[in-house]
Amino acid sequence: MCGIVGYIGTEDVKETILKGLERLEYRGYDSAGIALFDGDQVRVFKDEGRIAHLRDIIDYDVKSTLGMGHTRWATHGKPNKINSHPHQSIEKRFTIVHNGIIENEEELKERYLKNIKLESETDTEVVAQILSKFTTEGEEVTLAIRHLMSEIEGSYALAIIDKYNKEKMYAAKNKSPLLIGKGDGFNMIGSDAMAMVSHTNEFYELDDGEYVEITKDKVEIFNIYGVKVNRDTYKAELDSEDIEKGTYPHYMLKEIDEQPFVIRRIIAEYQDENGELKLDQDIINKIKNSDRIYIIACGTSYHAGLVGKYYFESITGKPAEVHVSSEFVYNTPILSEKPLFIFISQSGETADSRAVLVKVKKLGYPTITLTNVKGSTLYRETDNQLLLYAGPEIAVASTKAYTAQIAVLSIIAVKASNKDIDLIKELSIAASVMEALCDSKDLYKDLAKEYLSETRNCFYIGRHLDYYVCMEAALKLKEISYIQTEGFAAGELKHGTIALIEEGTPVIAVITQEIINLNTRSNIKEVSARGANVITISRKSISAKSDQIVLGDVNEFLTPLAAAVPIQLLAYYAALDRGCDIDKPRNLAKSVTVE
Ligand code: AGP
Repeated sequence: MCGIVGYIGTEDVKETILKGLERLEYRGYDSAGIALFDGDQVRVFKDEGRIAHLRDIIDYDVKSTLGMGHTRWATHGKPNKINSHPHQSIEKRFTIVHNGIIENEEELKERYLKNIKLESETDTEVVAQILSKFTTEGEEVTLAIRHLMSEIEGSYALAIIDKYNKEKMYAAKNKSPLLIGKGDGFNMIGSDAMAMVSHTNEFYELDDGEYVEITKDKVEIFNIYGVKVNRDTYKAELDSEDIEKGTYPHYMLKEIDEQPFVIRRIIAEYQDENGELKLDQDIINKIKNSDRIYIIACGTSYHAGLVGKYYFESITGKPAEVHVSSEFVYNTPILSEKPLFIFISQSGETADSRAVLVKVKKLGYPTITLTNVKGSTLYRETDNQLLLYAGPEIAVASTKAYTAQIAVLSIIAVKASNKDIDLIKELSIAASVMEALCDSKDLYKDLAKEYLSETRNCFYIGRHLDYYVCMEAALKLKEISYIQTEGFAAGELKHGTIALIEEGTPVIAVITQEIINLNTRSNIKEVSARGANVITISRKSISAKSDQIVLGDVNEFLTPLAAAVPIQLLAYYAALDRGCDIDKPRNLAKSVTVE
């Protein structure tokens, strides 16, 4: 997944595009580039590395009011200068940036570009060269774009500058996210609203198979047959200060600290005028009418889904199972008679999850999404939507979205049950406990230094809900500190993996559930006897004097909310101690919009 931003208007584009790209770096940051139309030529500046490096190589004497930029997470070809975007056609007529994967790239090369020597290893350059071929053979540019769209298999968000149509910019979309920002005397293209929100908060959504002709005063959307589509704009509820780091050294630390506020915001947003928790009756009906709930997600959202499963089964009394999206698509289980699909996705753009949505919609099953991004693909393509109200999550490592997902799942489970749980009170207590945990950062800094600074591996162990917390804890630690970490069922360790425990191996035990308290403490003894250095995170009412991190007494079923803070901060300080890039870890991207 990559980030795209484009501008056509009356102002110089350079800073607008560079700032937009900086807001999209979370989508990928192997390499970056910018194209500036100077009225005669399209000047391209691009290289491996971050936007900060791109700023150093641009010729600021180039004046331009039409341009576009790209920040890349490599899918085809190494992250280097040649493979970075923008790409140009052979005669430099077309300049293109692309997010997605052209799955039939080889077939298209074979069919149309046999005698063309391509400069790069990318599928994007293939698109540029084919556009050039079609127009050289006489096709008008929008016909050539439609022709190209009909030939491509796969996902794309394309922005195109044609130097022979210097008053226009073109865009086309299929599966990959792309928004059009509507301005006054200018218009923009962006992979998401954040890239454009400093200039406009009015946007057009695009559906798959649509393309757009954009001038500084007009936006015209067409379907693949060239038929004009009438579409209203929508206002994004975003403002630019939400996106700034403020006094924080990293977005991740800011977003960890925002969690208590987010829980309180969720309570407010899901409360009716009488102070009762509210949930769309259609969603409650869908849950009650289903005989099994299938939760579909990836990564951290998958870990939140595991907690959701526990809630649906223990509170709502509804069977539930959780699937990693990329597995479910190709290894689909036998489904129940009346399944309900719940998609959990912070970005609402995860291609693996969307692929499942496409499949189950074809089968006619009901779908709900929990997402943080209004207007995202999953938001637009599911039957019902529940927003996380977490505010923009910029750090690649998900924190506040994770706890927001758990809070919203608890609301769904309770509202679809006949249980008399004062969830507003319980969530409020959880928010206060999380706040107290956020205030004891020195503890986590010291523990990370003492236990994690030298190690090459680490284990989180837990049972029951704590096991699900350990899986998320392991992902947090490994994805930002690069310490090989496993989240392990504490009772399972002795069936083989305990062979890896040696003198000094850090083991972090999570104990919040009364029923498994003594069992996990036995497992702590087993690993300690083999030399492990143990940190114990426990809930206050079942804590032992030796436990280093004690959570306040939240309701037992909401302990994943409280436990999230120490596991996130241990990861943060371990990564900080190692000098890792906390907000943009290597090889990662915030929203994985390729399968
Ligand atoms: C979590 O820290 C990671 N950034 C990653 O696992 C993420 O949760 C996953 O890619 C799913 O993203 P989504 O919630 O936007 O679908």
